Amino acid sequence: MTRLTGKTAVITGAGSGIGRASALKFAAEGAAVAVTDILGETAEAVAEEIRAAGGRAVGFAVDVADDLALKDMIERTIAEFDKLDILFNNAVNTAAGKRKRDVDFLEFDPAVFHEIVQVNVLGGVLASKYALPHMLERGDGCILFTSSTSSLGGDVAQFSYGASKAMVNWYVKTIATNYGKQGIRCNAVIPGVIETPAMKAWASPEMHAAFMKLQNAPRLGQPEDIANLAAYLASDEAAFMNGGLYKCDGGMTAPLPFAQLQLDYLIPRHKPGAAFVGS
Ligand SMILES: NC(=O)c1ccc[n+]([C@@H]2O[C@H](COP(=O)([O-])OP(=O)(O)OC[C@H]3O[C@@H](n4cnc5c(N)ncnc54)[C@H](O)[C@@H]3O)[C@@H](O)[C@H]2O)c1
Repeated sequence: MTRLTGKTAVITGAGSGIGRASALKFAAEGAAVAVTDILGETAEAVAEEIRAAGGRAVGFAVDVADDLALKDMIERTIAEFDKLDILFNNAVNTAAGKRKRDVDFLEFDPAVFHEIVQVNVLGGVLASKYALPHMLERGDGCILFTSSTSSLGGDVAQFSYGASKAMVNWYVKTIATNYGKQGIRCNAVIPGVIETPAMKAWASPEMHAAFMKLQNAPRLGQPEDIANLAAYLASDEAAFMNGGLYKCDGGMTAPLPFAQLQLDYLIPRHKPGAAFVGS
Protein backbone atom coordinates (compact mmCIF):
# COMPACT_ATOMS: atom_id res chain seq x y z
CA MET A 1 0.00 0.00 0.00
CA THR A 2 1.31 3.40 -0.95
CA ARG A 3 1.02 6.66 0.96
CA LEU A 4 -1.99 8.15 -0.85
CA THR A 5 -3.84 4.98 -1.82
CA GLY A 6 -7.59 5.63 -2.10
CA LYS A 7 -7.20 9.41 -2.02
CA THR A 8 -8.12 11.88 -4.74
CA ALA A 9 -6.36 15.17 -5.41
CA VAL A 10 -6.60 18.28 -7.52
CA ILE A 11 -3.49 20.34 -8.19
CA THR A 12 -3.32 23.77 -9.82
CA GLY A 13 -0.41 24.93 -11.98
CA ALA A 14 0.43 21.26 -12.44
CA GLY A 15 1.55 21.40 -16.07
CA SER A 16 5.09 22.36 -15.06
CA GLY A 17 7.68 22.47 -12.28
CA ILE A 18 6.60 21.76 -8.71
CA GLY A 19 2.95 21.13 -9.63
CA ARG A 20 3.89 18.62 -12.31
CA ALA A 21 6.33 16.79 -10.01
CA SER A 22 3.64 16.71 -7.31
CA ALA A 23 1.03 15.31 -9.68
CA LEU A 24 3.44 12.53 -10.69
CA LYS A 25 4.42 11.86 -7.06
CA PHE A 26 0.82 11.85 -5.76
CA ALA A 27 -0.14 9.41 -8.52
CA ALA A 28 2.88 7.20 -7.79
CA GLU A 29 1.74 7.18 -4.15
CA GLY A 30 -1.67 5.86 -5.24
CA ALA A 31 -3.83 9.00 -5.57
CA ALA A 32 -6.21 9.72 -8.43
CA VAL A 33 -5.18 13.16 -9.65
CA ALA A 34 -6.93 16.01 -11.44
CA VAL A 35 -4.05 17.81 -13.13
CA THR A 36 -4.96 21.41 -13.91
CA ASP A 37 -3.12 24.35 -15.44
CA ILE A 38 -3.95 27.52 -17.32
CA LEU A 39 -2.31 25.70 -20.23
CA GLY A 40 -4.71 22.81 -20.79
CA GLU A 41 -2.38 20.91 -23.09
CA THR A 42 0.41 20.75 -20.49
CA ALA A 43 -2.09 19.56 -17.87
CA GLU A 44 -3.34 16.87 -20.21
CA ALA A 45 0.26 15.83 -21.06
CA VAL A 46 1.03 15.28 -17.36
CA ALA A 47 -2.24 13.37 -16.90
CA GLU A 48 -1.33 11.21 -19.89
CA GLU A 49 2.11 10.53 -18.35
CA ILE A 50 0.35 9.33 -15.17
CA ARG A 51 -2.09 7.12 -17.09
CA ALA A 52 0.75 5.66 -19.19
CA ALA A 53 2.44 4.64 -15.92
CA GLY A 54 -0.75 2.87 -14.81
CA GLY A 55 -2.15 5.65 -12.61
CA ARG A 56 -5.51 7.43 -12.59
CA ALA A 57 -5.62 11.03 -13.80
CA VAL A 58 -7.54 13.62 -15.76
CA GLY A 59 -6.06 16.82 -17.13
CA PHE A 60 -7.88 20.02 -17.98
CA ALA A 61 -7.44 23.78 -18.26
CA VAL A 62 -8.12 25.97 -15.23
CA ASP A 63 -7.18 29.62 -14.90
CA VAL A 64 -7.10 30.17 -11.14
CA ALA A 65 -7.78 33.87 -11.71
CA ASP A 66 -11.27 32.86 -12.87
CA ASP A 67 -13.67 32.32 -9.96
CA LEU A 68 -16.15 30.24 -11.96
CA ALA A 69 -13.38 28.05 -13.35
CA LEU A 70 -12.30 27.26 -9.76
CA LYS A 71 -15.84 26.25 -8.80
CA ASP A 72 -16.02 24.10 -11.90
CA MET A 73 -12.60 22.56 -11.11
CA ILE A 74 -13.79 21.33 -7.71
CA GLU A 75 -17.13 20.07 -9.06
CA ARG A 76 -15.47 18.34 -12.01
CA THR A 77 -12.89 16.60 -9.80
CA ILE A 78 -15.61 15.32 -7.45
CA ALA A 79 -17.73 14.19 -10.40
CA GLU A 80 -14.72 12.39 -11.88
CA PHE A 81 -13.43 10.68 -8.72
CA ASP A 82 -16.56 10.73 -6.45
CA LYS A 83 -14.79 12.71 -3.73
CA LEU A 84 -11.98 15.18 -3.07
CA ASP A 85 -9.41 14.52 -0.35
CA ILE A 86 -6.57 16.85 -1.33
CA LEU A 87 -6.57 20.35 -2.83
CA PHE A 88 -3.08 21.60 -3.69
CA ASN A 89 -3.05 25.33 -4.52
CA ASN A 90 0.22 25.73 -6.36
CA ALA A 91 -0.30 27.94 -9.45
CA VAL A 92 1.71 31.13 -9.68
CA ASN A 93 1.60 34.25 -11.77
CA THR A 94 5.04 34.19 -13.40
CA ALA A 95 4.67 36.88 -16.08
CA ALA A 96 8.19 38.19 -16.61
CA GLY A 97 6.92 41.57 -17.75
CA LYS A 98 5.27 42.09 -14.39
CA ARG A 99 8.46 41.20 -12.58
CA LYS A 100 10.28 43.99 -14.42
CA ARG A 101 7.67 46.41 -13.08
CA ASP A 102 8.10 45.07 -9.53
CA VAL A 103 11.70 46.05 -8.73
CA ASP A 104 11.47 49.65 -7.57
CA PHE A 105 9.31 50.37 -4.57
CA LEU A 106 9.00 54.00 -5.63
CA GLU A 107 7.41 52.76 -8.87
CA PHE A 108 5.03 50.40 -7.04
CA ASP A 109 2.28 49.48 -9.46
CA PRO A 110 -1.07 48.54 -7.89
CA ALA A 111 -2.11 46.82 -11.14
CA VAL A 112 0.80 44.37 -10.82
CA PHE A 113 -0.07 43.82 -7.15
CA HIS A 114 -3.71 43.02 -7.96
CA GLU A 115 -2.83 40.66 -10.83
CA ILE A 116 -0.33 38.75 -8.71
CA VAL A 117 -2.60 38.55 -5.67
CA GLN A 118 -5.51 37.41 -7.84
CA VAL A 119 -3.58 34.30 -8.93
CA ASN A 120 -1.22 33.60 -6.02
CA VAL A 121 -3.66 34.32 -3.20
CA LEU A 122 -7.28 34.44 -4.33
CA GLY A 123 -6.77 31.47 -6.67
CA GLY A 124 -6.09 29.24 -3.66
CA VAL A 125 -8.45 30.96 -1.26
CA LEU A 126 -11.45 30.65 -3.59
CA ALA A 127 -10.60 27.08 -4.57
CA SER A 128 -10.55 26.31 -0.84
CA LYS A 129 -13.91 28.05 -0.41
CA TYR A 130 -15.42 25.70 -3.02
CA ALA A 131 -13.67 22.55 -1.76
CA LEU A 132 -14.40 23.07 1.93
CA PRO A 133 -18.17 22.33 1.99
CA HIS A 134 -17.49 18.93 0.41
CA MET A 135 -14.58 18.22 2.78
CA LEU A 136 -16.59 19.36 5.82
CA GLU A 137 -19.47 17.10 4.86
CA ARG A 138 -17.06 14.18 4.89
CA GLY A 139 -15.23 15.41 8.02
CA ASP A 140 -11.92 14.98 6.25
CA GLY A 141 -9.77 16.99 3.88
CA CYS A 142 -6.30 18.31 3.23
CA ILE A 143 -5.50 21.68 1.68
CA LEU A 144 -1.96 22.57 0.67
CA PHE A 145 -0.56 25.83 -0.62
CA THR A 146 2.81 26.53 -2.20
CA SER A 147 4.29 29.53 -0.43
CA SER A 148 7.87 30.76 -0.79
CA THR A 149 10.89 31.78 1.28
CA SER A 150 10.10 35.24 -0.18
CA SER A 151 7.28 35.37 2.39
CA LEU A 152 9.63 35.12 5.35
CA GLY A 153 11.55 38.38 5.31
CA GLY A 154 11.98 41.79 3.77
CA ASP A 155 13.07 41.98 0.13
CA VAL A 156 14.64 44.45 -2.29
CA ALA A 157 12.33 43.54 -5.22
CA GLN A 158 9.25 41.43 -6.02
CA PHE A 159 7.21 43.58 -3.65
CA SER A 160 3.97 42.02 -4.84
CA TYR A 161 5.19 38.41 -5.06
CA GLY A 162 6.64 38.30 -1.53
CA ALA A 163 3.56 39.99 -0.11
CA SER A 164 1.27 37.54 -1.93
CA LYS A 165 3.11 34.59 -0.39
CA ALA A 166 2.97 36.18 3.08
CA MET A 167 -0.80 36.43 2.57
CA VAL A 168 -0.86 32.76 1.61
CA ASN A 169 0.80 31.92 4.96
CA TRP A 170 -1.93 33.83 6.79
CA TYR A 171 -4.73 32.00 4.98
CA VAL A 172 -3.08 28.65 5.67
CA LYS A 173 -3.16 29.33 9.40
CA THR A 174 -6.65 30.81 9.19
CA ILE A 175 -8.17 27.84 7.35
CA ALA A 176 -6.47 25.52 9.86
CA THR A 177 -7.85 27.59 12.73
CA ASN A 178 -11.40 27.65 11.39
CA TYR A 179 -11.78 24.03 10.29
CA GLY A 180 -9.18 21.92 12.11
CA LYS A 181 -11.66 20.65 14.69
CA GLN A 182 -13.86 19.40 11.82
CA GLY A 183 -11.11 17.26 10.31
CA ILE A 184 -9.61 19.69 7.79
CA ARG A 185 -5.86 20.19 7.68
CA CYS A 186 -4.24 23.12 5.87
CA ASN A 187 -0.48 23.45 5.48
CA ALA A 188 2.03 25.18 3.22
CA VAL A 189 5.25 24.08 1.61
CA ILE A 190 7.87 26.80 1.49
CA PRO A 191 10.33 26.10 -1.32
CA GLY A 192 13.68 27.78 -1.48
CA VAL A 193 15.40 28.00 -4.85
CA ILE A 194 14.03 25.16 -6.97
CA GLU A 195 15.22 24.44 -10.50
CA THR A 196 11.88 24.65 -12.31
CA PRO A 197 11.21 26.03 -15.81
CA ALA A 198 10.06 29.27 -14.14
CA MET A 199 13.28 29.63 -12.17
CA LYS A 200 15.48 28.73 -15.16
CA ALA A 201 13.67 31.35 -17.25
CA TRP A 202 14.69 34.23 -15.02
CA ALA A 203 17.95 33.11 -13.40
CA SER A 204 21.09 33.89 -15.41
CA PRO A 205 24.11 31.52 -15.17
CA GLU A 206 25.69 34.05 -12.78
CA MET A 207 22.59 33.92 -10.56
CA HIS A 208 22.66 30.14 -10.69
CA ALA A 209 26.20 30.20 -9.28
CA ALA A 210 25.17 32.73 -6.65
CA PHE A 211 22.23 30.53 -5.64
CA MET A 212 24.62 27.62 -5.15
CA LYS A 213 26.61 29.75 -2.74
CA LEU A 214 23.49 30.58 -0.74
CA GLN A 215 22.49 26.93 -0.25
CA ASN A 216 23.59 25.04 2.81
CA ALA A 217 23.34 21.94 0.68
CA PRO A 218 25.57 20.56 -2.10
CA ARG A 219 22.97 21.21 -4.85
CA LEU A 220 20.00 23.33 -5.81
CA GLY A 221 16.47 22.18 -5.04
CA GLN A 222 14.54 20.06 -7.53
CA PRO A 223 10.75 20.00 -8.05
CA GLU A 224 10.75 16.45 -6.64
CA ASP A 225 12.09 17.75 -3.29
CA ILE A 226 8.92 19.79 -2.87
CA ALA A 227 6.69 17.06 -4.28
CA ASN A 228 8.05 14.63 -1.64
CA LEU A 229 7.18 17.07 1.15
CA ALA A 230 3.74 17.76 -0.30
CA ALA A 231 2.98 14.03 -0.61
CA TYR A 232 3.94 13.52 3.02
CA LEU A 233 1.81 16.46 4.20
CA ALA A 234 -1.12 15.13 2.15
CA SER A 235 -0.81 11.66 3.64
CA ASP A 236 -2.27 10.26 6.86
CA GLU A 237 1.26 10.14 8.27
CA ALA A 238 0.88 13.92 8.70
CA ALA A 239 -2.55 13.59 10.36
CA PHE A 240 -1.58 15.79 13.34
CA MET A 241 0.05 18.52 11.26
CA ASN A 242 -2.18 21.52 10.75
CA GLY A 243 -1.55 25.21 10.07
CA GLY A 244 2.16 24.64 9.44
CA LEU A 245 4.55 26.40 7.07
CA TYR A 246 7.19 23.85 6.12
CA LYS A 247 10.44 24.99 4.59
CA CYS A 248 12.30 22.88 2.05
CA ASP A 249 15.12 25.20 1.07
CA GLY A 250 18.42 23.36 1.34
CA GLY A 251 19.17 25.25 4.55
CA MET A 252 19.25 28.54 2.65
CA THR A 253 17.43 30.45 5.40
CA ALA A 254 19.14 28.63 8.30
CA PRO A 255 22.01 31.05 9.05
CA LEU A 256 21.66 34.37 10.77
CA PRO A 257 22.60 37.24 8.42
CA PHE A 258 25.36 37.85 10.97
CA ALA A 259 26.97 34.50 10.05
CA GLN A 260 28.39 35.86 6.78
CA LEU A 261 29.90 38.81 8.62
CA GLN A 262 31.56 36.40 11.04
CA LEU A 263 32.93 34.34 8.15
CA ASP A 264 34.25 37.41 6.36
CA TYR A 265 35.68 39.42 9.25
CA LEU A 266 35.63 37.89 12.73
CA ILE A 267 36.73 34.27 12.26
CA PRO A 268 39.67 35.01 9.89
CA ARG A 269 41.05 37.37 12.52
CA HIS A 270 41.23 34.57 15.06
CA LYS A 271 42.07 31.71 12.71
CA PRO A 272 44.35 33.14 10.04
CA GLY A 273 44.60 31.03 6.89
CA ALA A 274 41.57 28.86 7.63
CA ALA A 275 39.20 28.04 4.75
CA PHE A 276 35.60 28.93 5.38
CA VAL A 277 32.39 27.64 3.86
CA GLY A 278 30.71 30.42 1.91
CA SER A 279 33.77 32.67 1.89
N1 LIG B 1 10.84 27.54 -8.44
C1 LIG B 1 11.17 28.16 -7.32
O1 LIG B 1 12.35 28.43 -7.07
C2 LIG B 1 10.10 28.52 -6.33
C3 LIG B 1 10.50 29.06 -5.10
C4 LIG B 1 9.53 29.38 -4.17
C5 LIG B 1 8.19 29.17 -4.46
N2 LIG B 1 7.83 28.67 -5.67
C6 LIG B 1 6.40 28.47 -5.90
O2 LIG B 1 6.18 27.19 -6.44
C7 LIG B 1 4.96 27.19 -7.19
C8 LIG B 1 5.19 26.55 -8.54
O3 LIG B 1 6.16 27.29 -9.23
P1 LIG B 1 7.15 26.62 -10.29
O4 LIG B 1 8.50 27.14 -10.01
O5 LIG B 1 6.91 25.17 -10.35
O6 LIG B 1 6.64 27.36 -11.61
P2 LIG B 1 6.34 26.83 -13.10
O7 LIG B 1 6.29 28.03 -13.98
O8 LIG B 1 7.25 25.73 -13.47
O9 LIG B 1 4.87 26.28 -12.95
C9 LIG B 1 3.80 27.17 -12.71
C10 LIG B 1 2.60 26.68 -13.50
O10 LIG B 1 1.50 27.56 -13.18
C11 LIG B 1 0.78 27.75 -14.39
N3 LIG B 1 -0.02 28.97 -14.28
C12 LIG B 1 0.37 30.26 -14.45
N4 LIG B 1 -0.67 31.09 -14.30
C13 LIG B 1 -1.75 30.31 -13.98
C14 LIG B 1 -3.11 30.56 -13.73
N5 LIG B 1 -3.59 31.82 -13.76
N6 LIG B 1 -3.94 29.52 -13.48
C15 LIG B 1 -3.48 28.26 -13.47
N7 LIG B 1 -2.19 27.94 -13.72
C16 LIG B 1 -1.34 28.96 -13.97
C17 LIG B 1 1.81 27.82 -15.47
O11 LIG B 1 1.26 27.56 -16.76
C18 LIG B 1 2.79 26.73 -15.02
O12 LIG B 1 2.49 25.49 -15.58
C19 LIG B 1 4.52 28.65 -7.25
O13 LIG B 1 3.50 28.89 -6.30
C20 LIG B 1 5.77 29.42 -6.90
O14 LIG B 1 5.50 30.68 -6.36
C21 LIG B 1 8.74 28.33 -6.61
